Order: sequence, then structure tokens, then C-alpha cells
Amino acid sequence: MPTVRVDLGDRSYDVRVENGLLARAGSVLTETGLRGKVAVVSDTNVAAFHADTLLQALKSAGYSSSLHIVPAGEASKSMKQAEALCSELAESGHDRRSFLVALGGGVVGDLAGFVAAIFFRGIPFVQIPTTIVAQVDSSVGGKTGVNLPQGKNLLGAFHQPSLVLVDPDVLTTLPSREYREGFAEVIKHAAIRDAAMLDDLANLDPDSQVLPAELIARNIAIKARIVEADEQETLGIRALLNLGHTIGHGIEAALPYGEMLHGEAISLGLRAAMFLSQRHAGLAAADARKVLTLLQHFRLPLQLDSGIDPQRVLQKLERDKKFEAGKIRFVLMEKAGSAHLSHAVTQTDLAEAVEILRQPYLAD
Ligand code: GLY
Repeated sequence: MPTVRVDLGDRSYDVRVENGLLARAGSVLTETGLRGKVAVVSDTNVAAFHADTLLQALKSAGYSSSLHIVPAGEASKSMKQAEALCSELAESGHDRRSFLVALGGGVVGDLAGFVAAIFFRGIPFVQIPTTIVAQVDSSVGGKTGVNLPQGKNLLGAFHQPSLVLVDPDVLTTLPSREYREGFAEVIKHAAIRDAAMLDDLANLDPDSQVLPAELIARNIAIKARIVEADEQETLGIRALLNLGHTIGHGIEAALPYGEMLHGEAISLGLRAAMFLSQRHAGLAAADARKVLTLLQHFRLPLQLDSGIDPQRVLQKLERDKKFEAGKIRFVLMEKAGSAHLSHAVTQTDLAEAVEILRQPYLAD
């Protein structure tokens, strides 16, 4: 079964992708050499499905564990929740010899990873991601953190996990909308690094919720290679993972939380990025169409609801981003499988791209 190695010197780790891995997690942790008491952090949705399986697996492997459940949803990514978790861990007798297991989607992974980064000045942690976005993206790369009222992810730390366990079977319990939204990030990875994968994804049935382990691992490997090349996002390589995210984040921020799923906003952001890539990076219409028809295949939105004020999207976007001499750092795709950071995109371009999103997508 596939394993993706993330090679970061003394912070290297494996991402193991195997069906049924959750129930074998205890023995895999032992093989990895993780010792000590285990603090499992999950949320109210995920724990109901998967906590028992994990706790049983830990017990069978001889681990003593405690379970800490936070409310499902972005509101849990707060300093208050992080502090409450740290107190719970201390109350449960955890110390620097313990390690933490994050069982859940991106919110749980980011929050629990942050707690692992600060508890007793840092303890090891393991990611067991349960959504597609968390499996292919947020569980890999060591970005951890919480939100402030002033913005998302404003407090955090780079803290690489010691191991990531990806069990494709857990995806079968996701609601269809949450399963399909994950493909926005999967498609984004393929769009920036692996054109052939765009064709492979088009052959998947969006309703089967059976995703081959090999395909997940191949998608994770894209992220892993990028993280290896630019771990702390200082070289303009990791920033390529922001394809579709500039306008996507603006749309997300313009709406009440939860109205649009992250992947749905990124799908719209990708359409805008394809438009701007055709204008400024010579992207061929056929390559843009390939990405957009794939998003459609997973029933992801390509048209902005007429009730959403484009000015509000632009305001949110401008607040979020630094413009230098009227230009923004923007990820453009020059051809399927290849992207670069550009300074060619202007505020006027962004306004036009948002305007394009208000029109129905008609493949040309
Ligand atoms: N999700 C983007 C990154 O990890 O850099």
C-alpha cells in the first residue's frame, strides 16, 4: 500500500495511505516508535463515527489514552478552545512525554496541531485526517494554528506531524456535498503539478465515495514535494498551493460562515484564476476548460450567486492582500500541470474576474 515520505531532515515523516488503517492505527504508531500516553482530539461529528475504532486500536496496542472532543466547525479554531484543550490535557495527566492524535478534518488538524506545538513547549503529534481536503492538503506540511476575530490563521506555528495516517474508508461516511467539495483542492494539486491526473480524476464517479488509495497518495505526493522544496513558504513555491485561493478566500469572507463550503469557494476562485491565466499567462482555452469541466463533474459551483455583492468580495479581498503598486502576488497557470507566481494581475483584473463569475460558465 502506498506511503509518501515527506523528507524534511530530522522532521521527516511518512504519510501512509491504506484502506482500514484507522483500525490498525495502534500497531502502526508502535512501529513508528511513538511512546507515551495519547491525547486524542476530535470533534463532535467525527468522534461519533470513528473515535471508538481508534480508541480500541490504541488500547489493543497497549496505549493509555484520553479523548478530547471539541464542537464541530470553524469556531473551534480559537485561542480559547486551544487553551481549554491544553487545560484538559494537563488535567488528564499529560505532559511532555505524551503525544497527540488529531482525528478529524482541517479544523481539528489545525487546532490539535497548534496545541501539540505549544503544550509543554511542543509534543509530537499524529494526523488522522477524515476529509479529502485534510487528507491531501492540510494534514501534510505542518501548518497549524487558530483564528483571530481579525482574520483566519493569524496565530500559529509550523509543527510537522510525526506520522499521517490516511484511511480512504473514512470518506464513505461523509455527506455527499462535503465529499465532493474536497475535489477542489485535489484538482488544484493536479492543475499545478500533474496534468495527467486531471484525466484520471475525470474517470471517477463523484457519487461512489470510493477513492483509490493510489490516487490519494499521488495527490498527497504533489503537496509533499512542494513542502520539501519550501517548508516555510519563503521561496514562492509553497505559495503555488494558493491557486484559486485569492478570489476564493474573498468570496468565503464575504459570506456568513458555513454558507459556502471552502471547496465550493475555491472552485469559483479557480474559475477566476483560469480566466486571469488565459489573459496573463498564455493558458490555452482547452487547458482552462479541462480544469473547469472537472470542477463541474464534481458538481462544484462555477457561477457566483446573484445575491452576492461583487463589491463586497473585492473589499474582502483587498483587505486580505497586500497590493504593491496596484499589483498583487497571484498564482497563474501557464499550462495544465504547471503554475507560477505572477505580479501581472491588477485590481482592475480582479474586478473583471469577479464580474465573469457572475455569468454562467459556458464551455467555449
Ligand atoms: N494549504 C496550503 C499550504 O499548506 O501551504
